[in-house]
Amino acid sequence: MPRVTFLNIDGSSSTVEAPAGMSVMQAAIDNMIPGILADCGGSCTCATCHAYIEAPWDARLPPRSADEALTLEGALDVEPASRLTCQVKISAELDGLVVRLPASQA
Ligand code: FES
Repeated sequence: MPRVTFLNIDGSSSTVEAPAGMSVMQAAIDNMIPGILADCGGSCTCATCHAYIEAPWDARLPPRSADEALTLEGALDVEPASRLTCQVKISAELDGLVVRLPASQA
């Protein structure tokens, strides 16, 4: 299964395996990664799954949808690499993906 590494707010990191097709948000929830709340359950309306996709992975993702971009406007500390992790699907091509959690979601 593809691996995803979360760079946690406390400076630690967590590497998890998750099946292709699962969202990065769901992989974080299933592995109790702190900083991802996912209050809306993945319907792209809450922004509590906000995280930063580290290079070079950020450039390998499809661009934000209009809905994702609109919801991200409600997040704190948005950066160019910001994504809603419920909208990022894990795939074999993204094996090794690195996701940094925002300090504002501590
Ligand atoms: Fe709510 Fe991603 S879980 S926007």
